[in-house]
Amino acid sequence: MREHVIDGMRYLAAGAGWPVVLIHAFPLSAEMWRPQLARVPDGWRFIAPELSGLAPSLPPEDGGHRISHNSPSPPSGQRVTMVDYARGIVRLLDRLEIDQAIIGGLSMGGYVTFALYRLAPERFTGIILADTRPGADSPDGRAARAQMRELLAAHGPAAIADQMLPKLLSPDADTDLVAGVRRMIEDVPPDAMDSALAAMMERPDSTPDLPRMSCPTIVIVGEHDQVTPVAEAERMQAKMPRSRLTIIPGAAHLANVERPNEFAQALHDFLVAPM
Ligand code: MLT
Repeated sequence: MREHVIDGMRYLAAGAGWPVVLIHAFPLSAEMWRPQLARVPDGWRFIAPELSGLAPSLPPEDGGHRISHNSPSPPSGQRVTMVDYARGIVRLLDRLEIDQAIIGGLSMGGYVTFALYRLAPERFTGIILADTRPGADSPDGRAARAQMRELLAAHGPAAIADQMLPKLLSPDADTDLVAGVRRMIEDVPPDAMDSALAAMMERPDSTPDLPRMSCPTIVIVGEHDQVTPVAEAERMQAKMPRSRLTIIPGAAHLANVERPNEFAQALHDFLVAPM
């Protein structure tokens, strides 16, 4: 596994062969894909971009708002959208001279995948949608995001970790695993986290796109995922013309982190026999 930075865009990569782009979840980073980067099947090249390096970063005078742990008020400027992240992925692919890839992500990574498919469907040879959902945020969901932005501004990523960890992993998850995910969250720059919250609360409903997303697709979901439950994954998969569903036993939302072997097996099976 190697870490790269190209034109300010950071990504992790492993393997050699047809590219597979894995987009990370909130409130995490490309680090969350280390278990998959350690298990790349022969003939494939896994690339995990860091979303924060792909979005445009506006200086405060341009309407951006750098948050500080001491500031009680949430950022006011709307800075980043899912389309910005999607454009960033296209830029990275261009820079790596990759015309087409299997592209997908987990949870927020799925939201970016929907935006990218609307922007550049010709770049896809397959789609991976893990522990994600096509719908936009409900009014309550948006209000919860706004509260989370306030919490982040007041108390930093550690407070977000406190709130999110019980949703990301199973109650009986190994304590070392929980500590590792907490470290990952606490290492994410607050600005990047805030931008992701803003982008998620403004994202559109991607449900109408599902029937048009006709590449071979795998929908993966943790058996105990409460953020994007199995029933939601089943509804999404039923609307996608060339898709299959794999449920990861014993996993919650971060299925790839909690059950890396089973997740890797699901990916492997999809890569070698997409339909
Ligand atoms: C994620 O895992 O990316 C987030 O839980 C998604 C969300 O909050 O909608």
